[in-house]
Amino acid sequence: MAADWSKYFPYTNQTSCFIFYSSLSKMADDKENKKIGLKTTLDMVVEGCRLPVKMSILPNEEEEWPLAEILSRKEEKGKLEFYVHYIDFNKRLDEWVLPDRLRVEELQFPRKDQKTPQKQTSSAANSRPTTPDRELQEKKTTVDRSESDSPSPSLLSKKLSLPEQTSSPAAKLGGQGQTPQSQTKSNAGRKRKAIFLDEDSQDAPATPQPSAPPQQPRQTGSMSSSHDENIITRIKNIETIELGKYRIKPWYFSPYPPELTTISIVFICEFCLKYVKSRKCLERHRTKCTLRHPPGNEIYRKSTISFFEIDGRKNKMYSQNLCLLAKLFLDHKTLYYDTDPFLFYVMTEYDIKGFHIVGFFSKEKESTEDYNVACILTLPPYQRKGYGKLLIEFSYELSKFEGKTGSPEKPLSDLGLLSYRSYWSQTILEILVNLKPENGERPQVTINEICELTSIRKEDVISTLQHLNLINYYKGQYIITLSQESIDTHNRAMAKRKIRIDAKCLHWTPKDWAKRGKW
Ligand code: ACO
Ligand code: ZN
Repeated sequence: MAADWSKYFPYTNQTSCFIFYSSLSKMADDKENKKIGLKTTLDMVVEGCRLPVKMSILPNEEEEWPLAEILSRKEEKGKLEFYVHYIDFNKRLDEWVLPDRLRVEELQFPRKDQKTPQKQTSSAANSRPTTPDRELQEKKTTVDRSESDSPSPSLLSKKLSLPEQTSSPAAKLGGQGQTPQSQTKSNAGRKRKAIFLDEDSQDAPATPQPSAPPQQPRQTGSMSSSHDENIITRIKNIETIELGKYRIKPWYFSPYPPELTTISIVFICEFCLKYVKSRKCLERHRTKCTLRHPPGNEIYRKSTISFFEIDGRKNKMYSQNLCLLAKLFLDHKTLYYDTDPFLFYVMTEYDIKGFHIVGFFSKEKESTEDYNVACILTLPPYQRKGYGKLLIEFSYELSKFEGKTGSPEKPLSDLGLLSYRSYWSQTILEILVNLKPENGERPQVTINEICELTSIRKEDVISTLQHLNLINYYKGQYIITLSQESIDTHNRAMAKRKIRIDAKCLHWTPKDWAKRGKW
C-alpha cells in the first residue's frame, strides 16, 4: 500500500537522490508510518524537519551528530544543500551542509506544535538576585578574609562552571563559542523606523529589505530584542567580509543590500565602514576616502589604544554602517537605523597605517533605565584577548565620570553574559581583597559603597556576589568569606589583565542630554 505523501511534502514526486529505509520512529503519524515502511528520500527533507546532522569539526576531532532543524534547502547547478540549525547550540553555528552530512534515516517530520527550543542562559532575570535584596543592601556586609568556619568557595571554580566554550568546534575557529541560545523577550513596542541604504551612495534610503521592522517607535534601547524573526533573517546572508587585513565569517543575518548577499566577499573600508562589492570598488573608494580613524572625537588614548566618541546624529552614515557591521555578530538584537539617540564609542588600535577598529559599544544619550551600554562588540579577530573587558571597563569609567551607576541593556547574549560576569566578579573582588581591617575588626563594606566605587548597578553587584557564592548569613549579619585560595586565584587572573583603562587618559565631560532638548 502506498501512502500519498505529496500533499504533505511537495518534493516527494521528484526523483530521489538517495533512498533510505526510515526508522520512522518519530514521524508525525507514528503508527501508520511504521506499518507502511515508507522509503525516506532527500526529497522529504524539508523546512521544519529534524534529524541528526554532522557538525563541522576540525581534523582529529570526534564526529558529532547533534539534532538539527532544517531551516531551508536550495539546489544550485544540481547541487543540493540544506541550511541547518543545531537545536541545542547558538545560532552562530548554523550552516549550509551537503546531503552526506544528514542522517536521513532518523528524519523527524515537522509537528504543528514544534518550535526550536531556546534555552534561557542570559537575560535580565539572570542578572537579578533571586532572594530579596533590600536587606542585603542596607546591612553592612562583613568581609572575612581569614580562613573561616563558613564555606569558602573558590572564585574561579565557580566562574568556570559557566558554559565552557573552548571545546566547541566553533570556539576553535576564531573564538565562537557554542552555548545555548539566549531566550529573547518580545519587544515589539520598542522599535524604531528603519532606513535602508543604497549600496552606492550609502546615504539615501533604498528598497526595504524583508527584515524591515514595524514602524512603531520604541522607548529605549538600541537594537531591541525580537521574537518576530522570519525565515530570511534566520539565515546568514553574507558569506565573508573583508575588513582591513582580516577576512571574517559573519555569525548572523544583517540587512545589507540584497546585491551583496550573492557575492562571496563584501569589502568594507575599515575606516569609514562603507561596504562595496569588489576589491576594485574598495580601491577606488580608498583613493577618495581620507579617513584613517573613526569620525568623532578621540576622547581617550593610552599607548596604541584609543576611543572615539561618535554622535549618531552628527555621523549618521558611519553609525549606520557600524550597526550593519555589528549585526553580523549580534543575534539577539534587531537592527534599527535611527542612530540619532545614540553615542558610539569605538575602540581602535593604532599602527602606522591608522587607527584600526577593534570593537565598540553604543550608549543611549538618555536612558530611562540607566543603561550605560546598549550593544557591545569585539570584532572576531580580536576576541578572547581581553578587549571585551576593556570595552566594559571603559563604559563603567564613563559612568563614574557621570557620577551614576549603569548596567548593560538586556537581554545579554551568551558571550555578553560571560564577559560581564567576569568583569563584575573581578571588579568587586578587587575591592573586597583590598579592604583594610578597621581597628582590628573585620573590614566592612556596604553594597552601596561597592556601587559607588565601581558604578556597577546594585542588582548586578548582588547577583555577582550570589553567583560567586560568597555571601553567608551568620549571626544576623551577611558575611562575605574569601578563602586564601580564591584570593590567590583572583590575583593571578588580575595579573593576566595586561591592558587596563587609565582614567587619567580619558578627556571627556559628560553632557546632560535632557537639558539640550535635542539630541
Ligand atoms: N567562550 C568562553 N568564554 C568566553 C568566550 C568564549 N567564546 N568569549 C569570551 N569569553 C570570556 C573570556 O574567557 C573572558 O573571561 P575570563 O577573563 O574570566 O576568562 C570574558 O569572557 C571576557 O573576554 P574578553 O576577551 O575580554 O572578551 P571579548 O573581547 O572576546 O569580547 C564580547 C566579549 C564583546 C561579548 C564578544 O564575544 C562579542 O563581541 N560577541 C558578539 C557580540 C555579543 O554577543 N555582544 C554582547 C551582547 S550583550 C549587549 O550588547 C549588551
Ligand atoms: Zn572609507
